[in-house]
This record gives sequence, structure tokens and C-alpha cells, in this order.
Amino acid sequence: MTAAAPAAEICEVTLPDTRRWERKHLLGLQDVSAEEILLVLNVAQCFKTPNGAVRRDKLPFLKGKTLVNLFFENSTRTRTSFELAAKRLSADVLNFTASTSSMSKGETILDTARVIEAMGSDFIVCRHSCPGTPDYLAAHVWSSVINAGDGAHEHPTQGLLDMFTMREHKGRLEDLKVVILGDILHSRVARSNIWGLTKLGAHVVVCGPKTLIPPTLYRLGVEVCYHLDEAIKDADVINLLRIQLERQQKNLFPSIREYRHLYGLTDKRLGVAKPDVLIMHPGPVNRGVEISDEVADGPHSVITRQVTNGVAIRMAVLYLLNQERERLGLRSQ
Ligand code: CP
Repeated sequence: MTAAAPAAEICEVTLPDTRRWERKHLLGLQDVSAEEILLVLNVAQCFKTPNGAVRRDKLPFLKGKTLVNLFFENSTRTRTSFELAAKRLSADVLNFTASTSSMSKGETILDTARVIEAMGSDFIVCRHSCPGTPDYLAAHVWSSVINAGDGAHEHPTQGLLDMFTMREHKGRLEDLKVVILGDILHSRVARSNIWGLTKLGAHVVVCGPKTLIPPTLYRLGVEVCYHLDEAIKDADVINLLRIQLERQQKNLFPSIREYRHLYGLTDKRLGVAKPDVLIMHPGPVNRGVEISDEVADGPHSVITRQVTNGVAIRMAVLYLLNQERERLGLRSQ
């Protein structure tokens, strides 16, 4: 009898050696090494086609597995791309809506997760306004937990897809000048970008009003700049952040009008950056506030490419976590 061929050969995907990955959960990029980050990016590359799209054929890697999207905050990109990524890898997907669940009758988040798990989940993708919620779940459940954004703490798959998109367009991350511009204080995207980019050798500059940049941020190895024109001079990449009006607890800047005047990115202002500067934004975009229409839709913008790459990155993360689960002999209950 001949031995079964590895799945990678059956479906004609040639993947890198993934044995170095030993994580069951993905909770943030703070404690993920440069080598692990590069492995995720390289696996994601294998799920793309030469024309930049993500493979649409059903790959068998997660056949028989179930992913649950457990979102306590709204989402368009993250929730749908996890669903699509899981389905492209042949998993079943369940979308849980907190507002219509028994949590409205007082059931705790842990009891809720255990109910879901009792029905046979392998992956729980969690978004919550409270930092640390995915870590808490990971400590108590049997499934693999993926942080899809916890308060202003981390959004690791967004950080990974941002780095993937930068590398795809620039060919490298090392020595790139990456400016993260806007509401750093409330941004989990900024933190995951900073952890990842500094490990991979990029020069990270954060820019925004003093009130929207934590005073100790420089300790993470970034340059802090409060003036837009100075910050974006010779920039390779500008990653803009949304002004998170829903998280503003007090008046941290005088008005939207003043913010736009001082920090809104327009074509005119872009002139001091490098001629091939990349414009990125995790979305959703406040058009006419942090970014003008002509920049958001202009030739430098890769905002929609980021969304496409999000599917490949989430496929890679699910693939790697599943490999570790199989290595540990974990099966859904
Ligand atoms: N970037 C991001 O997290 O977008 P969503 O809120 O739409 O998921």
C-alpha cells in the first residue's frame, strides 16, 4: 500500500516548512518573533495567484473543522474575511451575534464560549471592546482563539496583512520608513503594526496630535512626531488610522475641522513623501477627515489590496494554528 501524499501536494499548493510554528492561539504580535511573522507572510503568499488575487478553489486543509466568529463589536472586513478564509480551507463557519444571543439574559462570555464549544468548535475568532478578552478565553477554552481586535490593545491579523501588503509592493520591510498617522491612542491596529514592523527592521514614525499619542510610546522603538509634513517627508508607506469617535471619552482635539486642517492627508501634502509612497488604511475610512477622496482613491492607495490580502493572511493563520492542533492531537468535542 502506498502512503497518502501530503495534503499540500494533493491540492497543488507548495507550502514552506511550517514545523517552526508552535502556537495554538494568536492573541497579539507582541510576543510573536520575526521568524514566525515571516512564516505567516510566506504561507499567505502561497494562497495567492500570480495576478494578486487569492485562490478561489476549495483547499482541503480544514475539512471537518469548525470556526466560530464571536464578535461583540461591529466589523465588515475582519469577520467576513475570516469566514471566507475558513470556507476556502473547507471549514464550517458559524457567525455568533452577541446582541441577539442569551448574553442579553445575563449569560457570561465564558459560558457562551463553552456552549459554542460543546457544539464542536475548533477555532474561536473573538472581537471585544475589552482588552484581554481573547487571552481570557484562550486560558479557559479548548479551541484555538484568534484575537480579531480587543479594545485598543491588538489586532494581530490586521498587523500581518498590513506588513504583507507593504512587502508585496516594496519587496522588503527592512529600512522602510513607515508612518502611522492619526489616532494612535485608541488604535489596536497601530500597536500590532508597531510590534511587527519594529521586529522586522522598519523605521516606524508615529504622528498625530499630542493628545492622541501615549507619552510612553517611544519605548516601543518608534520615532514620535507631531507635525504631519515633517513626519511624512521621504516616507515609503503612510498607514492612516481612523479617528475613532466612538472611543473618544473626552475632547482630545478641538474639532474635526481642526484635525482635518492639521492631520488630514491630501494630494498636496503627499508631495513631500517618496514619489512611490504607499497609502494604507485599515478601514473603515472617514473620508474628508483623516484622508481626502483623491488620496483614498488615488494611484498610491492600496486600501482595497489590503482587504484582498486579509483573506490570504487569515487562511495562513488558520492553516498554521490547525497544524499545531493536529500535532498536539486536538480534535473537536
Ligand atoms: N480593519 C478592520 O478591522 O475592519 P473591520 O472593523 O471592518 O473588521
